[in-house]
Amino acid sequence: MEKPQRLRSLPPYLFADLERRRRSLTAAGTEVLNLGIGDPDLPTPPHIVSAAASALRDSTTHRYPLGSGTPLLKRAIAEYHRRRHGIELDPDSEILVLIGSKEGIAHLPLVLVESGETVLVPDPGYPPYTSGSLLAGASVRKLPLTVGNSFCPDLEALEPSELAKAKLLFLNYPNNPTGALASRSFYEKVISWARAHRVWVAQDAAYSEVYFDREPEPFLRLPGAREVGVEFHSLSKTYQMTGWRVGWVCGNREIVERLAQLKDHCDSGVFGVLQEAARAALEGPQDCVEKMREVYRRRREVFLEGLRKLGWEVHASQATFYVWAKVPAARSSREGAEILLDRAQVLATPGVGFGLSGEGYLRFSLTNPEELLRAALERMGKLRW
Ligand SMILES: Cc1ncc(COP(=O)(O)O)c(C=O)c1O
Repeated sequence: MEKPQRLRSLPPYLFADLERRRRSLTAAGTEVLNLGIGDPDLPTPPHIVSAAASALRDSTTHRYPLGSGTPLLKRAIAEYHRRRHGIELDPDSEILVLIGSKEGIAHLPLVLVESGETVLVPDPGYPPYTSGSLLAGASVRKLPLTVGNSFCPDLEALEPSELAKAKLLFLNYPNNPTGALASRSFYEKVISWARAHRVWVAQDAAYSEVYFDREPEPFLRLPGAREVGVEFHSLSKTYQMTGWRVGWVCGNREIVERLAQLKDHCDSGVFGVLQEAARAALEGPQDCVEKMREVYRRRREVFLEGLRKLGWEVHASQATFYVWAKVPAARSSREGAEILLDRAQVLATPGVGFGLSGEGYLRFSLTNPEELLRAALERMGKLRW
């Protein structure tokens, strides 16, 4: 039987093809150094694991969690934003707990956009912005992020006919895959533009705590941000909790309410144990976050310096644990990734997998120990492009 159109409209998932090749090389006994997927190698801090273990022994967590998150966790999230960003949020109406931020991001277009309307998506960008929009029957208009525009989309480049159909804009800073940050003045422009054109804004802040020299500007702190949009947050990268699946969306009440309504029909909430672990993460000591940043700072220095010594043109990321680098000898992303995998057994993600503006780039993930990064550089040093 034929798959429905909405499923056929989805592009193949970014990592699937290279992951298949990595598996077959590994099965044949080749050691592949995986700098592809961004999945922290550091363990979740022990006080968070302990909180989860005791919550697991409390049988009240064994029942359906239901609703938009426990009042305790939503209060902890509100308190976290007050302390960390100076933002006041109402836990009842402005915060919704998610099964990882990906879940909320992928569902968002379903509650904001009619089929046939347009979602504006950064290119290169995290794939669920596009796939969630296509599943909602929306059209996707890619907004190029380039060195020339400092990886912030040029909203003035949209034609009036495109603007008329645009209902939602995804932003993502700190940015995956480029490692860029957005300035306050860029967000201010976005807010007045969104007001003028009646476009919702979803700022994905999954990497908000993975930065190096300068702290990311919180979108929601700016005047007017809450009227036009929401921010997505995640525990995954901040506390090394990718496998746990907890995140939240906060800001505009109407968006929060609509997503909560959809979720009532699709899932029964986040496992109570995970909500207690999330609370321990947000309320507990934060030195683990600074340590995490230190680890990535060091790895980033080693890797950037190594690539530059090999003559690679690299963009010095300001944040995230990714390095965005130009493929040598003007090769395409895919050729570059294949050469690395076949001849150096190093796996990197082809930039074009994040959108056409990523063509000619590779994304390296620093979620590997320093020795492994050095070993990858050594193998890459033997390549002739
Ligand atoms: C830009 C971006 N946003 C959101 C996510 C989703 O994170 P999670 O669902 O683990 O909260 C990721 C994960 O890699 C990401 O790269």
